[in-house]
Amino acid sequence: MKRIGILTSGGDCPGMNAAIRAVVREALDKGLEICGFKRGFAGLIDNDFLKMDITSVGGILQRGGTILLTARYQKFKQTEAQRIALENIERNRLDALVVIGGDGSLCGAYALDKLGVSTIGIPASIDNDIYGTDMALGVDTALNNIVEVVDKIKVTATSHERTFIIEVMGRGSGYLALISAITTGAEAAIIPEVSYDLEKIAARIKEGYRRGKTNNLIIVAEGAGTSFEISRRLEKMAGIQSKITVLGHLQRGGSPTCFDRLLGSRFGTSAVEALVEGTSGKMVALVNREIKLMDYKEVFAKKKVFSKKLVQLAELLGR
Ligand code: F6P
Repeated sequence: MKRIGILTSGGDCPGMNAAIRAVVREALDKGLEICGFKRGFAGLIDNDFLKMDITSVGGILQRGGTILLTARYQKFKQTEAQRIALENIERNRLDALVVIGGDGSLCGAYALDKLGVSTIGIPASIDNDIYGTDMALGVDTALNNIVEVVDKIKVTATSHERTFIIEVMGRGSGYLALISAITTGAEAAIIPEVSYDLEKIAARIKEGYRRGKTNNLIIVAEGAGTSFEISRRLEKMAGIQSKITVLGHLQRGGSPTCFDRLLGSRFGTSAVEALVEGTSGKMVALVNREIKLMDYKEVFAKKKVFSKKLVQLAELLGR
């Protein structure tokens, strides 16, 4: 193995730069050349890359986002796009590719692997919906971003004795909503994985006010229904007025936490080690605090589910 490529794809997340830095430094240490493709799979198709050296990853550990830029590139699902990528990989004499991204991006890596390209995937998505890894890159920072803002909302909610509905990211996954609800003391988490009963939530809010509670927080995952709709229903059904805050992309911004910097560093070095040892077709994963390698096949065959105990915890403590 002489030359490898790297790209970041899909939604950006804090910790991607830590992973890029680790891949580049580990690769250089192993005597490999490394090419960084810009804008994910789009750059692979356009053959848009830069040769990376020790200085190209200096000072990026604490920066959010990705220095390689990223894109959601739906075209890569098409065999024609994959064929062009394969041509560019051969033309640039790349022996392997490291793909950093969420499930869609790792699917792209899997497609290339099936075409004979050695690839290793690094799970990176604030949604934490990738099967096989306890945590994906960016999740911890996103949670800290959410908690910081919700704590602030709670201050003003308390002064006005208000109910707030806070919408967080997670199209198909309620992980961010559930964990942030537990860790901010929210009264309810509304998530796509669990059906919810708004009447029960309304009764809990009313009972809270009767007990002298001064605020109520409901955290909604975007995939579970819009906060505006929930707010309207709460008012119609129980006369409870609420304020709405949609956190949006601020959740993905900012400097990565210590956890994400370490995870990116461990994932990145492990990805290169695996390639050098001749392993491919796998995703690096955090399993019980250890870094493991998971077959793409397994990653895509199963759906990640989180412990029911977390749902019970949110239910029990949010009274
Ligand atoms: O996949 C991560 C994620 O942040 C989702 O939680 C969210 O629904 C989506 O990306 C937003 O995507 P975009 O930044 O392309 O609007």
